[in-house]
Amino acid sequence: MLDIASYESAARAGLTEQVWDFIQGGSGSESALAANRAALERLRIRPRVLVDVSGCSPAGSVFGTPLAAPLGVAPMAYHRLACPDGETATAKAAGETGTLLTVSMFASRTLEDIAAAASGPLWLQLYWLRQREALVELADRAAAAGFQALVLTVDAPRVARRPRDVRSGFTVPGDVRAVNLPAALMSSSHERTEGASAIERHSREQFDSSITWADLAWLRERTALPLVLKGILTAEDAELALAHGASGVVVSNHGGRQLDSAVAAADALPEVVDAVDGRALVAVDGGIRSGADLLRVLALGADLALVGRPVFWGLAQAGAQGAAGVLRLLAEELDEAMALSGCPSLSDITRALITSR
Ligand code: FNR
Repeated sequence: MLDIASYESAARAGLTEQVWDFIQGGSGSESALAANRAALERLRIRPRVLVDVSGCSPAGSVFGTPLAAPLGVAPMAYHRLACPDGETATAKAAGETGTLLTVSMFASRTLEDIAAAASGPLWLQLYWLRQREALVELADRAAAAGFQALVLTVDAPRVARRPRDVRSGFTVPGDVRAVNLPAALMSSSHERTEGASAIERHSREQFDSSITWADLAWLRERTALPLVLKGILTAEDAELALAHGASGVVVSNHGGRQLDSAVAAADALPEVVDAVDGRALVAVDGGIRSGADLLRVLALGADLALVGRPVFWGLAQAGAQGAAGVLRLLAEELDEAMALSGCPSLSDITRALITSR
């Protein structure tokens, strides 16, 4: 497996068409999905030469925990769609490769099983449910299991219409369950609906689309874990996130799965980095498929990059080993891109490395 595209082809062969479309797809015309890749491709690197890169290393950290590279797994629901072990396989892969793992609220293995398989840092992602007690219970379990942060996804007052899933009548298979939530809260994810995918309908029933900035205090009062807001695309919202006590933001258009006309993550990144101005962690996700892409977003000022679909491809290709292969390859490619652009350490990567010409 010499590149991430090879994992993508291998994964396709092993998944049903319906699951493949659920993983690959975006909302609407999939223009935000395409924009993420196009924005990264537009950025070219201005390499510096005759720099001593003999000790080059992408080693980094997140909230004080060391990482092999500033790389994390983006939260994705239901890893058991890709391999029978699901998130415990991903946790092993992340631990083995020194990568952060963000576990989705809709994980298909328990937080406790995932923590037992992990040897690196874990974050837990939440959507704001109408049933608030379920959020507090999850936050408590995450803290008890050693998770280091909560990620609240704020770009999804409900799940967007994703035409591939409507067409395929996507429902979550009966043997793949969001085991960390009460079964009664999840039942409609498994029931077919005309004109909408099961997860779109489920989100309309269970997500609280009335929450605003003022509600964040409620969650912050109930957990000591740092809070990271995922789905920030503007300087204005980055300012508000910090004003409401966020310890970090993830610049993200949800991998092109929410607002179809949204700005690409890499295009939104500089204004968020400038607004945050070093006061909090800035992570980014969307379309990152190589070490060169990692170098690009680091040069724009990201502290951490998350990858989504490629991890699913690795899991589908060869379980924990496949996911580890994907994460290791990305870190090795970053190491190479740093060496060839004259950046022996992360602190050498600056915006001067980037041109969009
Ligand atoms: C996601 N994403 C997501 N985000 C989130 O906050 N909670 C979730 O449960 C999920 N679930 C999910 C499932 C699948 C199959 C995909 C592909 C994505 C979005 C994810 O965290 C991330 O924002 C994007 O996937 C990043 O883009 P790339 O790397 O997939 O292009």
